[in-house]
Amino acid sequence: MRTLRTKVAVVGAGPAGLYLSHELRTHGVESVLVEWCSREHVERRVRAGLLEEGTVRLLRGSGLAGRLNRQGLVHDGFQLRFENTSQRISTVSLIGEPTYIYGQQEVVKDLLSARPPDDGSLYFDARDVQIVGITGNNPSVAFTVGGEQVVVEADFIAGCDGYHGVSRASIPAASLAFHSRRYPFDWIGLLVSAAPFASELVYSVHPRGFALASMRTPEVSRLYLQTDARDEQSNWPHERIWDELGQRLYLDESRTWERGAILEQVRVPLRATVAEPMQFGRLFLVGDAAHIFPPTAAKGLNVALEDASVLAHALIGWFRRGEVGPLEGYSATRLRAVWRAQDFSAWLTWLFHPVADATQFDHRRRIASLTRLAEAGSSAVAFADEYVGRSRRRPPSLSYIHELDGMEA
Ligand code: FAD
Ligand code: DHB
Repeated sequence: MRTLRTKVAVVGAGPAGLYLSHELRTHGVESVLVEWCSREHVERRVRAGLLEEGTVRLLRGSGLAGRLNRQGLVHDGFQLRFENTSQRISTVSLIGEPTYIYGQQEVVKDLLSARPPDDGSLYFDARDVQIVGITGNNPSVAFTVGGEQVVVEADFIAGCDGYHGVSRASIPAASLAFHSRRYPFDWIGLLVSAAPFASELVYSVHPRGFALASMRTPEVSRLYLQTDARDEQSNWPHERIWDELGQRLYLDESRTWERGAILEQVRVPLRATVAEPMQFGRLFLVGDAAHIFPPTAAKGLNVALEDASVLAHALIGWFRRGEVGPLEGYSATRLRAVWRAQDFSAWLTWLFHPVADATQFDHRRRIASLTRLAEAGSSAVAFADEYVGRSRRRPPSLSYIHELDGMEA
């Protein structure tokens, strides 16, 4: 058995874990990162693609954006289609901020290549990962790698191991509230070897269901299609998927659409979860380990990196300057941002996805809401603020005049 000692043990080498350990190392706080998959698997996993301005700023500020600056696609806005019309919503015109298209696995590759090679602080292919002693001052992460048992003792543990990880499960159930909502929809996601459907993203709301035409590069498209959560995968052969995409994107029949080879197909259940609090003893939950968003508003990766950044700076403050407040306040600070992003994601999910038993009333109301967004008034400005994530970067500005308790009726 091998025992190592570090300041922060990080579980999970997704974007959150990799970014956290990068920031810690840059500021002289050592960490050890433990991941149960192989490096190749982690680098190849295709997931998110839309980065908010705040995320891009974080990556630039950390010296990680060389390739992102060269290869990332900057989008001033997107198309919103409904009722056989296409409206352009320009977030740059509305609030001066674009969004960026750059694959999550590219962010992961950039984070991995920024690490010094083989410095012994990163373990892939770890088996039987366990978290021990989070209520004491010496928590540890134990695992086996290449048949050898390894124990990493640390001052703190960062649980960045996603929705299915061990970190959240290590917190006693009585100390954790786990809120969840399963939406009655799934998405089928395709990665396709073909030029993007349009030069910007197309969000399309059709009585048959929602469709999104996104992209990864000028040669690779990413397409999503709403299906009913109860629907069998076998009901969706490729021909039907292409046909539905064409109809839901209001594809003009005279236009030929390069379908291209399907490189990957996934089924994405639309769900939301939030674990409260996001810290217990010496364990902090970060990213998908603490919260899942339905993908509609593309918040998962962005909020995960924001969590990682806030926790990194709280830990740096603790180790370098003995600051307690930011670390103690981590959960409360992040939950405000998380619920804000959940609220927007839920609102957008219901707006974009017709339910199976929708009435004409529901349909007309949905069109009225979409029209309001397309009118570039105050609704569109508020929408853009949430969509590009600017709202989460503003400090809270609630002014409580007085507590309700004891107030006269
Ligand atoms: P993860 O990426 O899940 O990383 C967790 C890591 O922990 C993984 O490497 C995993 O292998 C590892 N791990 C798990 N268990 C253990 C264990 N027991 N021990 C050790 N390691 C473990 N978000 C956006 O912001 N924009 C988008 O456009 C967007 N689109 C999406 C589209 C799809 C189809 C999907 C599925 C998601 C999308 N998301 C999007 C969400 C985004 O991908 C996630 O929120 C993001 O991956 C969260 O990063 P993370 O590091 O917290 O978790
Ligand atoms: C992508 C996914 C989204 O949910 C979204 O709103 C925008 C882009 C994507 O994967 O490209």
